Amino acid sequence: MLSVEQFHYDADNFGYLIYGKREAIAVDGGASRAILDFLKSKSLSLAIVTNTHGHFDHTSGNDELRKLTEAKFLNFTELSDNKEIPIDGEKISVYRTPGHTADSVCFYTGHALISGDTLFNGTIGNCFTGDLKSFYLSVKRLMALPDGTLIYAGHDYVRDSLAFARYLEPDNKEIDSFLGFYDPNQVCSTMSDERRINPYLRFNEDSIIKLLVKKGLPSATEWERWTSLMSIE
Ligand SMILES: [Fe+2]
Repeated sequence: MLSVEQFHYDADNFGYLIYGKREAIAVDGGASRAILDFLKSKSLSLAIVTNTHGHFDHTSGNDELRKLTEAKFLNFTELSDNKEIPIDGEKISVYRTPGHTADSVCFYTGHALISGDTLFNGTIGNCFTGDLKSFYLSVKRLMALPDGTLIYAGHDYVRDSLAFARYLEPDNKEIDSFLGFYDPNQVCSTMSDERRINPYLRFNEDSIIKLLVKKGLPSATEWERWTSLMSIE
């Protein structure tokens, strides 16, 4: 099974190494120095440098990692949906997940998802494309992942996200329960956690439907519930 190491950099960014026994792939390698130290300590060679999307805070480590290692750059904008990236005899799947940006991708190892700015722990990314339909389909696709899938996001937005989740669902006790285990040094959730705390995955739950009705927003169909939920600020 491939391992995942999380690296914190800048104010709240996360980058990742996905690695086996000998090889690693860096996704959003902004913490380039810490990544190089980790590779050395584990005697890993960096095979690939890539990104979840093109925003500069995610691509800022690319040049240094490429300069100081033999890694090849995998241009994420050219990765086709469902492409499998081989690492140490195992595979990482690419999911194209447009919405936050048109070029957004997630990487799925079979047990962990590097979700970039598409899915955060407790919220989802801003829909900068304005393409709510594509974002809906991207989120629906991620919702189909197994309960135990580990969600490794592109930022630590946990406290703000859950404050807003609590505003939307004041009676959802799962939110405080998740916060009780929140550790800023190792930020991760499972898909099961997300189904319980993340309002943007909960558009079919009674409490969210009641909220939409109370606000006078359309809620008859799933699509209406999604667009209504996305309209609340
Ligand atoms: Fe972004």
